Order: sequence, then C-alpha cells, then structure tokens
Amino acid sequence: MTRDDLLAALTQRLGPQGVLLGADMAPHETDWRALFQGHAMAVLRPASTEEMADAVRLCAAARVPMVPQGGNTSMVAGATPDETATQIVLTTTRMTRIRDIDVNDMTMVAEAGVILKLAQDAARDAGALFPLSLSAEGSCTIGGVLSTNAGGNTTVRYGNARELMLGLEAVMPDGTIWHGLRRLRKDNTGYALRHLLVGAEGTLGIITAAALRLFPRPVEEAVAFCAVADEDAALSLFRRFRGRDESAVRAFEYMSAGSMHLVLDHVPGVSLPLAERAAHYVLVDLASSRPGANLRALLESVLEEAMEAGEVTDAALAESEAQRAAIWKLREEHPEGQKRAGASVKNDVSVPVSKVPEMVRRSCEALTRLIPGSRPVPFGHIGDGNIHMNLAQEPGTDPAAFLARSHDIMDCVNEIVRELGGSFSAEHGVGRIKTDMVEDWRGGAELAAMQAIKRAMDPHGLMNPGKVLRGL
Ligand code: FAD
Ligand code: MLT
Ligand code: ZN
Repeated sequence: MTRDDLLAALTQRLGPQGVLLGADMAPHETDWRALFQGHAMAVLRPASTEEMADAVRLCAAARVPMVPQGGNTSMVAGATPDETATQIVLTTTRMTRIRDIDVNDMTMVAEAGVILKLAQDAARDAGALFPLSLSAEGSCTIGGVLSTNAGGNTTVRYGNARELMLGLEAVMPDGTIWHGLRRLRKDNTGYALRHLLVGAEGTLGIITAAALRLFPRPVEEAVAFCAVADEDAALSLFRRFRGRDESAVRAFEYMSAGSMHLVLDHVPGVSLPLAERAAHYVLVDLASSRPGANLRALLESVLEEAMEAGEVTDAALAESEAQRAAIWKLREEHPEGQKRAGASVKNDVSVPVSKVPEMVRRSCEALTRLIPGSRPVPFGHIGDGNIHMNLAQEPGTDPAAFLARSHDIMDCVNEIVRELGGSFSAEHGVGRIKTDMVEDWRGGAELAAMQAIKRAMDPHGLMNPGKVLRGL
C-alpha cells in the first residue's frame, strides 16, 4: 500500500476531522520541553475505540510505525514522532467520554483522552475523589498518566497511577481490541496484561479506556507552607507527620531555594507567604475523610514541635481556599518557572526516602563542580523519595551549549543515585531520552524479559519504536 493509498483509506474511515496533515500537525510534532522537533506522516484523531482499532489495523497492514499521544506533556519526549515523516501519531484527544461512575463500587470508567482534571471533576461531582494530581493535570490524559505510570503529588497517600487502575480496554499492535475493563479488586487469572500496558509508554498497545478506583472525598483539609532548616529537617518533619497520622498526609513536597526562587522571579501571580526567603521549603497538605479529624490542630501541634526542635523556621497556614490554592501554585509552577528561566536538564530520580538529604547534597556539590555557575534546582515529592534533581543553566550563557552537556549532567547525578540504591527515572519514564540508561541499569534477565515481551506483543516493532527499548 502506498503512502497516499493509506492516507486515503484512513480518511475514508475516520473522516476529514480524524486526519491532520501539514501545518495542522505542528502541536503534535514537538515535545513539552521543546527538545525535539519531529515530523509525522499524519496525525490521526479517532473518536472511538472501533475507529482507533481500524486505524491501527490499516497502519499495521502497511507496516507504518505509530506513536500514541495523549496530552503531549511527556518530560522524556515519549509522545513525539521521529524526524523522518514516516510515523503516524495516534492522538486520543477525541476520546473524551466518562463512560460510567459507580459510587457503590467506587469506580469510574474513563476513555483514554479524558483530561486528568476533568476526571477529577467528574469524580467530585459524583461525591467521590479521583486522587491522582500533578501540575500537568489540566492537559495530561488518563491514557497518558497510565502509560507513564505517573506519580505526582499524592503518591505518598494514594500510590502511582498503576495503583489506581483496575482494568483496561486497549488496541493491540495488530488492531485487535482487548476488552479488559474489569472493575475487580481481586483478579488473579494469569499474567496481568493490564499491568504490562501501564508504564509501557505506548510501546505495547494503545489504551483506549480505563476502569479507575475512586475514594471517599476528604471532609477536612489543612495546608501549610514552611521554611525548614535543611534537607534533613524536611525529612524529619515528614516523619513527625507520618508518626502522628500517616493516613492524613495527602502530599509532602520539598522545594529548594534554587527552584523556588526561579518561580518567584519568573512566574507572574505568585508570592511567598513568609516574611523572608529561605534556603529550603516544604509544603504539607493534610486531608481526611473522617469527620472530627481535627487536622488544623494536628498541623499546628506538629509544626510547633518542629519549631522548638529548630527544624521549621517559619510557617504559613492556609486560612481559606484562596490561600490554599496560592500555596499550591508555588509548587505547581515549578516546571514552568524552570522553563521560563532558560535551559534546564531534568533528573527525575528516586532513592530510599532516608537517603534523600544525602542524595540532594552530594548531587548539588557534584553538579556545581561539573558546570561552575550552573544552578541546581532540586524539588519534588520527598515523601516518596522522588526528587527532581534538576540543573538550570547559568543566566546569560548559551542554552544549546548547556544542553549539549545533558548526558554528563544526568550521569553525574545517576552515579550518586545508583550508589544509594535509587532509580534513574522515578515517574517520568524512559521515552526517547533515557533508552541507554535502561540498558545500563536494567541489563541481564530484566532487559532480556522486556525485549522478549516487546517482540512477542509487537513483532513488527510498530508501536512507538525507539522509545523505552533502543532498536525495538
Ligand atoms: P503524553 O505526553 O501524550 O504521552 C506520554 C507517553 O504515554 C508517551 O510514551 C505516549 O506514547 C504514551 N501514551 C499516551 N497516551 C497513550 C495511550 N492512550 N495509550 C498508550 N500510550 C499512550 N509526571 C509525573 O509522573 N508526575 C508529575 O508530577 C509530573 N508533573 C508534570 C508537570 C508538568 C508541567 C508536565 C508538562 C509534565 C509532568 N509530568 C509529570 C510528566 C508526564 O508524564 C505527565 O504529565 C503525564 O503522565 C503524561 O500524560 P499525557 O496525556 O500528556 O501523555
Ligand atoms: C513536577 O513534579 O513538577 C514534575 O514532575 C517535575 C519536573 O518538571 O521536573
Ligand atoms: Zn514530579
């Protein structure tokens, strides 16, 4: 089948609305970080699972590689086509139905293209909670967060995306539809295909819908923004809250002066709720669905103890919904602050929680030795051991020259992370950027199993080739 024949067949099946060509493809051809400029043969926008299956079948028959895409917020260029104009992007942007919400079973069935924020809103309107929360929630999709097994701000309480998923519907690489939307808490019936697709970054098939877990809505919330003495104090404060009421800790986020000050200096509409700038900050978010939990008293009493111990040096407690949102905005704008400040290299690493302070300190020292003048900007989900150990370029220097050192920068941090028993990718995945690290860190039986699975499920190597596993 020629390229023109394939595009004609796809247009006939999906309609003109379902096929983008030329300049209309532009938003789908580059990644959020603007590191890669791809060129696609076409961008397909199926509106249903059946349309997606037929599109995949046609592409597979023509042996045309496919790149699944949701909100296109990948931090590792996982949803970006290569530069050859031979790949077809399959976007889920028209698959946006919430098919079902059941507050007896506490489940929601959502199509892959549902924006995360809209899934949260739908759960709220039904009187329940879908707890996954990340700064990209206004753009990222259910299919995308499952395919990357996203973590975000509430992992410490509710787990990663995988833990919120009960069942999936997906289109396999040959165009077969797998109807696996089971809403069961227990289902041990052989290999768990659903768990292979979660975190596969679109290399094993396309998720078209998911059965998700819902939770009771919190009836009490309390949020504080604190200045803390150092990284150890941040962790010690986390332990204090965990010790008093682990189930109440919905989020516990660390921000260094380096990262926070980029937000304050570059993002409009934010302000520090403390008397003066500090070297280290923590955001504590408590929530409980238990009436009478008295979280405000818990927050005040733990902060008082921590102040007496010299761990917390200043704190602001949210007194209203507006103040709560303003505090969260300071954290949520971290990726944007770094983007506006110039080039940065991201190290989305995790270590055992107890090792976070050592990892942060050693990485900062090593990075400033490697590139004098550059600015380490560590921040992130300290409560689950995942810090974004990012490095921002020195102001006024050439961004391209800085980015050319990306691999040295990542290696520098990874060496320390490996020594501390951590991971080179905690929540963003591998995408196109970290395939060499998969080979280096996950060799032997683990890599062999991953390659065998990929070859078995996608024998022609058509689903997001070159992502996760190099050469497959
Ligand atoms: P895309 O970027 O479109 O795709 C991501 C990957 O999934 C690609 O490999 C793609 O091929 C694949 N994919 C997409 N949809 C499907 C599908 N339906 N079936 C199969 N494969 C599919 N991540 C975190 O974990 N925690 C964070 O705190 C966090 N914060 C972020 C903040 C910002 C501002 C941004 C821009 C990104 C952040 N991310 C974070 C990264 C990112 O992984 C998430 O935003 C999200 O998981 C990606 O969803 P998406 O719909 O945009 O997917
Ligand atoms: C976040 O937690 O804000 C993102 O995952 C981190 C990043 O931009 O590096
Ligand atoms: Zn993150």
